[in-house]
Amino acid sequence: MASGPCRAFALLLMLLVLPGCLLHRAAAQPSTPADEKQLLFQIKRAWGDPSVLAAWSGAGDHCAWPYVTCDASSGLVTNLSLPNTNVAGPVPDAIGNFSALTSLDLFNNSIDGTFPTSLYRCASLRYLDLSQNYLGGELPADIGTKIGKNLTSLILSGNYFNGTIPTSLSRLTNLQTLALDINSFVGTIPEELGELTGLQTLWLAQNTFAAGELPASFKNLTKLKSFGVSNCSLKGDIPAYVAAEMPELELLDLSVNAFTGSIPPGIWNLTKLQTLTLFGNNLTGRVVVDGPIGAVNLVMIDLTSNHRLTGSIRKPSVTSRNLQH
Ligand SMILES: *[C@@H]1O[C@H](CO)[C@@H](O)[C@H](O)[C@H]1NC(C)=O
Ligand SMILES: *[C@@H]1O[C@H](CO)[C@@H](O)[C@H](O)[C@H]1NC(C)=O
Ligand SMILES: *[C@@H]1O[C@H](CO)[C@@H](O)[C@H](O)[C@H]1NC(C)=O
Ligand SMILES: *[C@@H]1O[C@H](CO)[C@@H](O)[C@H](O)[C@H]1NC(C)=O
Ligand SMILES: *[C@@H]1O[C@H](CO)[C@@H](O)[C@H](O)[C@H]1NC(C)=O
Ligand SMILES: *[C@@H]1O[C@H](CO)[C@@H](O)[C@H](O)[C@H]1NC(C)=O
Ligand SMILES: *[C@@H]1O[C@H](CO)[C@@H](O)[C@H](O)[C@H]1NC(C)=O
Ligand SMILES: *[C@@H]1O[C@H](CO)[C@@H](O)[C@H](O)[C@H]1NC(C)=O
Ligand SMILES: *[C@@H]1O[C@H](CO)[C@@H](O)[C@H](O)[C@H]1NC(C)=O
Repeated sequence: MASGPCRAFALLLMLLVLPGCLLHRAAAQPSTPADEKQLLFQIKRAWGDPSVLAAWSGAGDHCAWPYVTCDASSGLVTNLSLPNTNVAGPVPDAIGNFSALTSLDLFNNSIDGTFPTSLYRCASLRYLDLSQNYLGGELPADIGTKIGKNLTSLILSGNYFNGTIPTSLSRLTNLQTLALDINSFVGTIPEELGELTGLQTLWLAQNTFAAGELPASFKNLTKLKSFGVSNCSLKGDIPAYVAAEMPELELLDLSVNAFTGSIPPGIWNLTKLQTLTLFGNNLTGRVVVDGPIGAVNLVMIDLTSNHRLTGSIRKPSVTSRNLQH
């Protein structure tokens, strides 16, 4: 039992310490549902009070608002999903203060500015889709060391990002999807991306790369299901690893490059392959696929506009256009 003066001293101490404590916490991580409601208001204001966010108002539970999902037990926002909503302007800095955010989907809006480094503060982020917007400038060189380690999907397709692809992306070892296609990246495809051995989807198509070859390190991307490097200024032979080391491939798009040489015969043995597009290269040689081919699921082949590709493919269900040129 504390005596009178001692108790008074303890109380005084608490009064002195408590506000400082609260202030410190609020500055570091405002992660109460009430704070997060204020963040949503700030985001709405930053985007100019668009009509699509009219429901983000009033005294009700913000976890019931459209585009918002909260964790049931903590009441913290986990998902913000606003594809096709016409929201415009930069990614508001306040989004970085959602301490439990795992998924942000802003696909197909009018988001501009540069890559939002405020998202570095969302340590739990797993899924980030900023594709089909007006983002530009260079990706920060440290993106791969600063963004949440648990990121599994980074989808930046269809923007105006330029500069080189940061090699630090190779540090995001949980990535399953990396989509950087339809941007203005320059330089060549970094060898380091071959360290992302969990990748199932890798899209790099339609950038303004300098002439180069596919990195030898991609031999290690053995889990790829969807591999798109159309229009990437690639030259040299189609690497044998595409056929030999990527048994899960469902889509392979190597079109509109300067590949030479012949098609690795193992391609016809990729049992899961559905779509194969090799048009617009400089491939030569005879394609002879007779008898039962391994690629029983192949539904689309486009080998048009190559240099001197001849031969025949005997498989009635396959759509092959202009094989003989
Ligand atoms: C993008 O959003 C607009 C409306 O904002 C819609 O008309 C269009 O179909 C969307 N595009 C895609 C690819 O979903
Ligand atoms: C976000 O958190 C930072 C500190 O982590 C704080 O300084 C800032 O005021 C917060 N922003 C908003 C919009 O609440
Ligand atoms: C929330 O995001 C996670 C990925 O982080 C995803 O698996 C889940 O389906 C999303 N939930 C909703 C309701 O959109
Ligand atoms: C990352 O994922 C692991 C495994 O699911 C989980 O234990 C950890 O808490 C996550 N880290 C963050 C910062 O969310
Ligand atoms: C990169 O993008 C930024 C922002 O869109 C632009 O200002 C800059 O001129 C671009 N740089 C190059 C080399 O195209
Ligand atoms: C190839 O990419 C360039 C831009 O990098 C674009 O202008 C051109 O239309 C693309 N060509 C094809 C066939 O997609
Ligand atoms: C594939 O990964 C292994 C193990 O990390 C590494 O030793 C090897 O150099 C990589 N292969 C290529 C071609 O990069
Ligand atoms: C394709 O598979 C068949 C049957 O398993 C095998 O005989 C043939 O050598 C394989 N071809 C290549 C290029 O791997
Ligand atoms: C294709 O290769 C031939 C020689 O093999 C060469 O003359 C031609 O310029 C090449 N075309 C392209 C588009 O690379």
